[in-house]
Amino acid sequence: MRKKLIVANWKLNGNWAFNEVMMSELSLGLKEVQWHDREIILCPPAIYLQQLNGLMSDLPILFGGQDVSEQFFGAYTGEISGQMLKEFGCRYTLVGHSERRVRHQEKNELVALKAKTALASGLIPIICVGETLDERDSGKMNAVIQQQIQSVIDCLKSDIIDVVFAYEPIWAIGTGLTAKVDQAQEAHEFIRGVLKNYGELCAEKVSILYGGSVKADNAQDLLEMPDIDGLLVGGSSLISAEFLAICLSRLNSK
Ligand code: 13P
Repeated sequence: MRKKLIVANWKLNGNWAFNEVMMSELSLGLKEVQWHDREIILCPPAIYLQQLNGLMSDLPILFGGQDVSEQFFGAYTGEISGQMLKEFGCRYTLVGHSERRVRHQEKNELVALKAKTALASGLIPIICVGETLDERDSGKMNAVIQQQIQSVIDCLKSDIIDVVFAYEPIWAIGTGLTAKVDQAQEAHEFIRGVLKNYGELCAEKVSILYGGSVKADNAQDLLEMPDIDGLLVGGSSLISAEFLAICLSRLNSK
């Protein structure tokens, strides 16, 4: 059975003092929690990984990068390698977030290469896919998502089984507009169908997270959907009470 993954993407937020307060509040809320059905993953700006790791003590929290280079090492100014993220305690890394696809012109092929390098570095890539409002309104949504996933399949081949996907409709990111639960489930079912082309096992094993204006009051409904295997949380992950409530959502066993 797939565990639920709850991933905090802090984006370009946090600082030394904020991180200390946040970790002490999370510690209080998560103290003595023992989970077998979920993982909580924190993706802060990479420069704070060491500080946050030190503050984590016994918290049941894993770490992830927000992005990773498609290169292993060399003359690539400003890049962070998978090996570096690993050395600083990461088990996961996001790749292909729409903010990178749009602002940094990252194309499907580059995102796929980043996922490949992440895997080769011992990290699990969380590959973000999703459509713009224009693409949804003009009926191109499924084609866009299929192409985003197919590029990863073409690059990773049988290793596709070891990745995580995150469906983040771009129109729902930071806008307060969440995809309705059934809209999200429909998109996730479509993505699982695309993965099925690569085999039943692939579709069964690969987790698909939802992201886009997730809050404490919609988290549980989203998590109850059969094809939603977790949440990728932006703004709400910066408010400890909100994020704790999301982490502590009651889960029905599937
Ligand atoms: P918000 O939760 O702020 O909409 O951000 C979603 C997101 O982009 C997570 O990666």
